[in-house]
Amino acid sequence: MLPVDISTIKRRKSVRTFVNGPLQEDHRQMVDNLVAEKNEAPGPFGTSSRVINLEISDKELDRMKVSTYGMIKSPRGFIVGVCRNDNKELIDIGHNLEDIVLRLTAAGLGTCWLSGTFKRADVLERVDLAEGELFAAVIPYGYPSEKKRFMESLVKSSARSHKRKPVDKLFFRGDFSTPVEEAEGRGLKDLIESVRLAPSSMNKQPWRVVLDQGMVHLYLQRSANYISDRFGFDLHMLDMGIAMRHMEAVCDIHGHDVEWLFDDPGIVMRNDGMEHIASMDIVGLPDD
Ligand SMILES: Cc1cc2nc3c(=O)[nH]c(=O)nc-3n(C[C@H](O)[C@H](O)[C@H](O)COP(=O)(O)O)c2cc1C
Repeated sequence: MLPVDISTIKRRKSVRTFVNGPLQEDHRQMVDNLVAEKNEAPGPFGTSSRVINLEISDKELDRMKVSTYGMIKSPRGFIVGVCRNDNKELIDIGHNLEDIVLRLTAAGLGTCWLSGTFKRADVLERVDLAEGELFAAVIPYGYPSEKKRFMESLVKSSARSHKRKPVDKLFFRGDFSTPVEEAEGRGLKDLIESVRLAPSSMNKQPWRVVLDQGMVHLYLQRSANYISDRFGFDLHMLDMGIAMRHMEAVCDIHGHDVEWLFDDPGIVMRNDGMEHIASMDIVGLPDD
């Protein structure tokens, strides 16, 4: 399997139109292996969230287009993320699904996170849920098509998908009153870019990060104009798991062991819409 590197993180973009044709056998096998691997490896909180691979036959393509409100065309399958309505489980499933997204990207496949624009009832016809479980998200996958549809351009422009907040709005040093203007050191630069370029629901980029004494503290910043629980669970928790997977990927690239800590570091938060999610020691990330 191809490794995830910084260029994988930079290259990943949501793909909503796929080439209409089968996957190569080695890619089909890779998807199965990734799903099996994720179901053995819990996320950072060690919960029992799970992923399922739903392959799509040619006969089902039209129906699946309808199931995604026309948003997704010709995917070869969907990875379905299942968990309970619990923030730790949602972070874990966000983390594990994003690991699959990055590894498929590294192999040249396209993906798109869907939490809103898919009909949960249609997935329910093919996947059994246990008591208390929900579909947090589905990830259609396939080979990206060169041709972009009007619908796709419309979604991208309404979510302003190509835009990212500047570094000094997301990253701080010591506390929230000191924005980071520019990161020093290769490790830190990669870490910052990996969070900034991550996908997030409606591209809200709700991550805020404080760098302090060799530690990096990840926070959630809710926005007043965004209802993150409109499907009955907190979509932002998926965004948080995604950022954690990107931070881990950078540590893996630089050979740095990851250990997540969940105790609140006690940094004064700017407002009520913030919460501490997790922290990580980054002493040893290359600073040349
Ligand atoms: C948790 C989550 C849920 C998302 N749900 C949807 C969705 O329902 N429909 C959709 O078209 N895009 C969805 N997206 C994709 C985002 O709009 C996209 O990641 C963001 O605009 C950034 O664009 P990019 O992925 O091309 O970098 C979702 C992304 C995330 C992380």
